[in-house]
Amino acid sequence: MHPVIEWKDGTVVMLDQRLLPGEKKFIVHHGHLEVAASIKDMVIRGAPAIGIAAAMGIALGVAELENRPELSDPGFLENEFKAIARAITATRPTAVNLFWAAERMEKVFQRHKNSYPRLRQELIAVAMAMDEEDFEINRRIGRNGQKLLKTGNTILTHCNAGALATSGYGTALGVVRAAGEAGKKINVIAGETRPYLQGARLTVWELQEDGIPVTLITDSMAGHVMKMGMVQAVIVGADRIAANGDTANKIGTYSLAVLARHHAIPFYVAAPLSTIDPRTATGNDIPIEERDAAEMTNFRGTMTARPHTVVFNPAFDVTPATLITSIITEEKLLFPDFGPAIASLEGLRRK
Ligand code: MRU
Repeated sequence: MHPVIEWKDGTVVMLDQRLLPGEKKFIVHHGHLEVAASIKDMVIRGAPAIGIAAAMGIALGVAELENRPELSDPGFLENEFKAIARAITATRPTAVNLFWAAERMEKVFQRHKNSYPRLRQELIAVAMAMDEEDFEINRRIGRNGQKLLKTGNTILTHCNAGALATSGYGTALGVVRAAGEAGKKINVIAGETRPYLQGARLTVWELQEDGIPVTLITDSMAGHVMKMGMVQAVIVGADRIAANGDTANKIGTYSLAVLARHHAIPFYVAAPLSTIDPRTATGNDIPIEERDAAEMTNFRGTMTARPHTVVFNPAFDVTPATLITSIITEEKLLFPDFGPAIASLEGLRRK
């Protein structure tokens, strides 16, 4: 599959995920404000992918300053950098990867702010490295997570935590891919994921592209398929995992966790360490994005409810740690009690 995002000849190229599965079109971004708009409008989405987009957007913003005469004034560069990072991070509040990536770029800025040419070069190099690292991290998540699956299992997933949400392999779907690479036959049931249909439009599309068997259901069918014995595990991604293991992910995830517990089905969260936020104590502290009412009253121009209907459209919900069987990271599988398990992670302490 063509990369979801790519740094190319001084621009940032993104696959426009709003148009899938009908159309495969790429958007070339020449400035950081365009990148910010594309994150907000969901041209690119999924926590790891928007982290990479944030890093590339910040690198692009600094590259835009190239011919500015004020560059000789050190205060100018610092102010501009802050404004660029603010524009990028003001786009979506829930996925912590966005802020994690901006902080990583800020460290590069502090190291190289005294030489603009060096700074520019390093920011681009680090943004590109983050893209490559994410792919490797996803492979490791996949290798760790696939051990939980047996051949013949059907997993239920929600939203899209796949190649399209990352640098190209996926977290939850990375586990499915890795199980396939280990010779196990895995079937996927994809919840359509109202209102934005990431499951129907994106997960189904990318699994079909890879020849992985997938069956689409509406979100409201999840309880039924579990009761019918059709699901052996639920695997989802995450937008932010609090220090106690409470996990924010696409709206509807919490309902699946409750249903899984009722049916004694394991509920797994697959996510990189960059999605764990030790500074967020519990799920109550995770900011939940609310999106435009139009996403619920319209679908691509077709009215699905009367235009002035009162709408509540939270994009994410929080699954309490007590409903999670294991968190699959690139370092290892975490099991309850998640608070101490998260606190002991080597990879988190280094960052
Ligand atoms: O609103 P989205 O499409 O950005 O939401 C994405 C999700 O909820 C994913 O499950 C999550 O970001 C993990 S992606 C590997």
